[in-house]
Amino acid sequence: MVKITVDGKVLEVDETKNLLEEILSQGEDLPYFCWHPSMGSVGSCRQCAIIEYANDEDERGRLNMACMTAPRDGARYSIAKAATFRAQAIESIMINHPHDCPVCEEGGECHLQDMTVMSGHNYRRYDGNKKTHTNQYLGPFINHEMNRCITCYRCVRYYKDYAGGTDFGPQASHDNTYFGRWQEGPLESEFSGNLAEVCPTGVFTDKPFSKHYVRKWDLQTSPSICVGCSVGCNINPGERYGTLRRVVNRFNDEVNGYFLCDRGRFGTGYVNSEDRITVSMTRTSHTADPVLATTEAARAQLQGMTGAIGIGSPRASMEANFALREMVGSDNFYAGVSARELGMAQQILEIYRTRPVNIANIKDIEASDAVLILGEDVTNTAARLSLALRQSVRNLGKQMARDMKFPEWQDAAIRQLTMDRKSPLFILSPHATRLDDVAATVHISTAAESARIGFAIATAIDGNAPGVTGLSPEEQSLVKTIADALKGASQPLIVSGTGSLSPALIDAAANIATALSDGDKKANLALIAPEANSLGLAMLMGESDNSLDKAMASGAKSAIVLENDLYRRASTSAIDAFINSLDNLAVLDSLKHRTGEAANLVLASGTFAETSGTYLNYETRAQHFYSVYKPVEAIRSSVYWLSDKPLSELTSACAQAISEGEGMAHLTPDHSLANMRFPRQQHRYSGRTSMRANISVHEPKQEQDDEGIMSYSMEGIPAVKDAAVFNTPWVGGWNSNQSVFKFQSHTGGALKQAGHGQVLISSTATDKQYSPFTGDTSETGDYEVFPLYHLFGSEELTGRTATIQEKGTTAYVALNPADADKLGLQESDGVTLKGIGSVPYLVRSQIRSGTVGVAVGLEGLNFADLDSSVSLEKAADWQSPPQWRAANVIASDRGAI
Ligand code: SF4
Ligand code: SF4
Ligand code: FES
Repeated sequence: MVKITVDGKVLEVDETKNLLEEILSQGEDLPYFCWHPSMGSVGSCRQCAIIEYANDEDERGRLNMACMTAPRDGARYSIAKAATFRAQAIESIMINHPHDCPVCEEGGECHLQDMTVMSGHNYRRYDGNKKTHTNQYLGPFINHEMNRCITCYRCVRYYKDYAGGTDFGPQASHDNTYFGRWQEGPLESEFSGNLAEVCPTGVFTDKPFSKHYVRKWDLQTSPSICVGCSVGCNINPGERYGTLRRVVNRFNDEVNGYFLCDRGRFGTGYVNSEDRITVSMTRTSHTADPVLATTEAARAQLQGMTGAIGIGSPRASMEANFALREMVGSDNFYAGVSARELGMAQQILEIYRTRPVNIANIKDIEASDAVLILGEDVTNTAARLSLALRQSVRNLGKQMARDMKFPEWQDAAIRQLTMDRKSPLFILSPHATRLDDVAATVHISTAAESARIGFAIATAIDGNAPGVTGLSPEEQSLVKTIADALKGASQPLIVSGTGSLSPALIDAAANIATALSDGDKKANLALIAPEANSLGLAMLMGESDNSLDKAMASGAKSAIVLENDLYRRASTSAIDAFINSLDNLAVLDSLKHRTGEAANLVLASGTFAETSGTYLNYETRAQHFYSVYKPVEAIRSSVYWLSDKPLSELTSACAQAISEGEGMAHLTPDHSLANMRFPRQQHRYSGRTSMRANISVHEPKQEQDDEGIMSYSMEGIPAVKDAAVFNTPWVGGWNSNQSVFKFQSHTGGALKQAGHGQVLISSTATDKQYSPFTGDTSETGDYEVFPLYHLFGSEELTGRTATIQEKGTTAYVALNPADADKLGLQESDGVTLKGIGSVPYLVRSQIRSGTVGVAVGLEGLNFADLDSSVSLEKAADWQSPPQWRAANVIASDRGAI
């Protein structure tokens, strides 16, 4: 730390950071555009100008950009003395900016507006023509309005440099600079939605939001958690007039930082979908016509189902699963997932408990300097983590910069310095992936082969780890290269998960991380789980092996299914047989699906936006989500249907009932605090009276929230006072999401008051235990099957969102070119999976001959119908389904083609 003086005020600041972030961290205001806490400085916008004095005698000083200045001990600076320059700088920036604030969708949270006011530019002298541009169609997610551009370069630095996108960039000629695609078309990056938050103006805005736009300050919002995958990114959904309008990022430095993936940001349209179950229905038999059930009658019927088994869900909250378990009894409670999936989730928990490893959060991932990914297609199964992995390869460059006494925030200079040199990232996968462009080595191998290689790597690091025999010379050389790189790293990281459906692969990952750990120095390990609360469900199951397979074999005559379409969990024939064997089936869910259609009783349950609860992410991090709004009367939370207890009591009881659950009981602040709740509406809210002026000028009574610590009102303790409930960030003068820094202990760092959630399992193990190599068995068939995941469509709920469907496609298989030739396939042919059905196919060069990739969760094929291998033939009389969009697969899965 060093002492500096800014306008006569003595500040103690971190000399390894730049002056802009240090000034902001001290709570001072200083305008900026191009600097971003995650992306560092390039000094292009000239807005953060300050005066730096050479010494005590210097009266004049010289102009510097704060974002490009390293604080010097004892130095004097002035923000005030550079005010004229900043006003002139913004005047020139604004010359071409249109006067369209009243119709601009950035309005209400525009950083450009804020900085213009802050810099004191309030009169436009320029009356010449403005430069105009043609806008591009950029796909279903993002609007483009180039006239608003101020040429700060943030978009391209984010999209290209940070997120690795290749289809977007700056194009310039003479004094025209254009930010767009080389040619019109959908943005290919899985993280394109962040452009809307990164761009300080209204060039890039949220297209689905604009279709039902409302003023940002009139949105009712709550802190929430994304249900799109097991990362558990923190989100801030906004509602108006009973529909969910948009989702934006909510900062959590340990989970998602400043960014979301497009599935999480744009995949919540299902909440407003016509497929919603909006009333409860009952019928006397599977074939009778359903009749409407009142809330009381439906609840009484459900709670009267004595002797029923309960089938839980990895996408339902801890509280809802727990309430069902309480209702039916532990012995009658079954995880709503296959035996294999439950086993792998329990395996992950056991590894986290018993191995001397550090469960890697996003900061650990970004800080890792050698990474091995074992069989997990992270971009499609846990997208936000792949963005973090992309940053990890920059650590070699950062180290080079440190060695040369170069500041880390000098973004462009470090990229120049390191050129193509990267920290090692090794990927073992059955197909090419979206991270291959930053990988040192990509080895195409089946899950079983990757597991063998993984076990050998562990042995190469620690001779006590169980080894394998029979590796080829090429594999042995790969083992040595990877083991040496991991051993030589200061923060090695192993990433794997359930995506390959291979317990052996997870064991291999755990063995490598264990082998690398040395006393207090624990290796980082991240094991990806399939869904938002998969690990929570597994913790609730404890040692029980009550999987869906066991439920189906239980002989039960009556079953309650919680938020789960069983047809996605097991083979169609097995689920048909199970449902037909039941006399009574109750389904609680928010969207219509096949399991619900077969039920005697369907109860309309709320989505994440309308209910509250807790999910456990891939790290076992318990995070609470708060309902954003009240749905129509007939829709209730699953917890309401299943239990008489209030939510807070269920949370506490659940915390006590699971091992290591203690942290879950302390996620929400005490709402007896000053006897006030936390408002869902901003102070800037337009006013309730005006909302209903066409009906009545009398202000209606506000809805009451009986179960949480938040109010459906603008009254209460706002986030500015207590960010323990970090709802929409807003500070006077800082109306955009840039205001987050006002809530952070240091710009880019942890929030001052809000928690990060609670990671429930933290291993204290020091003993190096290893899993024995068991291998994976393969059934006979022509082609070994491996799953192919898609960010857009593979996940059940987000896949029901119209904009996600526009980016997605129907199910297909992917084959090696030689295998496609062997089967005599031409471009427009289909492939028959014997005994299953026919689907379109794609050729991918980087797939091993003899293996076939099968799309998971997409319309047209139930992956659970397949064995581990399958026989293929050319489909007779084939016609591609209308929703098959090969181009979408190619565009969204570029690396895998
Ligand atoms: S489009 Fe937005 S982020 Fe990109 S240069 Fe223009 S103003 Fe900056
Ligand atoms: S990475 Fe997962 S949790 Fe995060 S935004 Fe994407 S889908 Fe949601
Ligand atoms: S923020 Fe410093 S020059 Fe742009």
